[in-house]
Amino acid sequence: MAPATTIPLSRPSYDEHEIARIREALGGRTSGDGPFGQRVERRLEAQLGVRRVLLTTSCTHALELALMALGLVDGQEVIVPSFTFVSTANAVLRAGGRLVLADIEEETLGLDPVDVEARITDRTAALLPVHYAGIAAQMGPLLEIAQRRNLRVVEDAAQGIGASWRGLPLGALGDAGCLSFHDTKNLSCGEGGALALRDEATARRAEIIREKGTNRSAFLRGEVDKYTWVAEGSSYIMSDVLAAILDAQLDKQAEIASRRGGIAARYRDALSDWARTEGVRLCAEPKDRALNHHIFYLRVPEPAAQVRCLAALKRQGVGAAFHYVPLHSSPFGRALGLPQEGFSRTERVAATLVRLPIHGEMSDADVERVIHAVRASLA
Ligand SMILES: Cc1ncc(COP(=O)(O)O)c(C=O)c1O
Repeated sequence: MAPATTIPLSRPSYDEHEIARIREALGGRTSGDGPFGQRVERRLEAQLGVRRVLLTTSCTHALELALMALGLVDGQEVIVPSFTFVSTANAVLRAGGRLVLADIEEETLGLDPVDVEARITDRTAALLPVHYAGIAAQMGPLLEIAQRRNLRVVEDAAQGIGASWRGLPLGALGDAGCLSFHDTKNLSCGEGGALALRDEATARRAEIIREKGTNRSAFLRGEVDKYTWVAEGSSYIMSDVLAAILDAQLDKQAEIASRRGGIAARYRDALSDWARTEGVRLCAEPKDRALNHHIFYLRVPEPAAQVRCLAALKRQGVGAAFHYVPLHSSPFGRALGLPQEGFSRTERVAATLVRLPIHGEMSDADVERVIHAVRASLA
């Protein structure tokens, strides 16, 4: 018999703190660049150690905005992993670039530097590594390639808040970093994102594009006496009501991180013998990286085991899930005529990865229920 409730894969941690901030925001100006928006931008700048953070309506929009502000020229190529969410690739197309997909590497499930190097042409302008599961991609070799080949680096750090590589926060490693505050993420405001920039000139271009092509941000800072149309732009700015939620979430960041870390540690402890016996690999913990435990995944030995494992967990009321359909073989990837060869690791990982529930709202009993169900899932 199926259990009464399903443990969801993710769930945001909201309570009276977010409600109080929303009330406060509703008493003031609720559009973008308001008091909460500005406060959260300063808090994120301090946390990431970057020159400017611009809050956006989503990470999808932060990615588009990054490529536009960095001046991607029509037809220039951007290298993106095939194992990622659609937004990483859409951003390249929306900004007028040409999408080039590359395979991932085994340790981090991020862009494979060897494959990246093989796909660089004289039209390549940027690399767009994804920090899958909040685990930094192989940034040493990727940054070295970018420097040697004079390429920009835009990090898709949608899953990366709170995680770091060699002590440096994800999102602060390249020319631009894009974060997500979607409700599945470690910190959330429903839908939201941020663009982190190390360079003031790029930030100035980005704030104009974000504000419908106007210099409204400079006007709000008192730098010009009226604002007007100064460039092509769109509307990518976060409402102050959502920024108020994010402000409350930042207050709880350490608490949320500690709960997620505790769950991951318990999974690792309770599942390692089982994993060894079944030929399952537990979520990577590569050296030089502090994890934010955004995702805890298993890699089962073969595709049939993924189907079996997910079905068994579903029967037990555990909201486990696979992850991305590789972009190269997706319907739109095929329609774009993207190459179909050379993605063996992406295909293998997509067919064998299982994500377990992990979020700040799980009780200890929930965690034990997941462990019990996982141990029986491949029998
Ligand atoms: C790797 C990656 N990139 C981009 C996004 C898009 O983020 P958002 O929903 O904030 O637009 C996501 C969302 O899940 C993601 O996982």
